[in-house]
Amino acid sequence: MENVNLKINGLEVSAPAGSTILEAAHLAGIKIPTLCFLKEINEIGACRMCVVEVKGARNLVAACVYPVTEGMEVYTNTPKLIKSRRRTLQLLLSNHDKKCLSCVRSGNCELQQLCREYGVEDENYFEGKTNHYELDDSAAHMIRDNNKCILCRRCVAVCEKTQGIGVIGPNNRGFDTFIGSAFDMGLGETSCVSCGQCIAVCPTGALYEKDYTNQIIEAIADPDKYV
Ligand code: FES
Repeated sequence: MENVNLKINGLEVSAPAGSTILEAAHLAGIKIPTLCFLKEINEIGACRMCVVEVKGARNLVAACVYPVTEGMEVYTNTPKLIKSRRRTLQLLLSNHDKKCLSCVRSGNCELQQLCREYGVEDENYFEGKTNHYELDDSAAHMIRDNNKCILCRRCVAVCEKTQGIGVIGPNNRGFDTFIGSAFDMGLGETSCVSCGQCIAVCPTGALYEKDYTNQIIEAIADPDKYV
């Protein structure tokens, strides 16, 4: 395949034609932050964490979906980009249940990690309307907590493209958008096969496995109760 030559942060980079800026940066060992991106599964440019500056372009572009071209000059870490990513994180936090201390993903949360990396400490920078959702605990194996969902759609993509099931998707529009099953059904009422792939790709604590530890301890202590 033909290669194209470009510069990223002043570094000469050669990448296969048709690559995205994110892929070219990866080849050059340059890290660009991402949140919604899942290689070949969810390349939809939704979260805007991966924004970069391209010389001559009027706006910031999403590196995960923007193709490289011959002679392109890209910048990945300018003050303007850092400000933009910080703003994106502040906006995500403005409608996010911030009970991180009790969250199962605390310490292993991509949103939390990026906030730390970008010094986003004021989690209430934007105040205003917030959404409140009931937990969906209808499935035997997992819980969906849409109060922690950032609408990255990774779960939707793996359910449909990797597992071939497609029982979840975006509902409503705009600020009222939430991920769930059609017709207000709980996940337990759908043909979900409990593969857990959606949990594995969720970048926050919006999806997590049910914890049956107490029942197991009880069953060991009193087996008759469970026969
Ligand atoms: Fe590129 Fe989300 S990672 S827009």
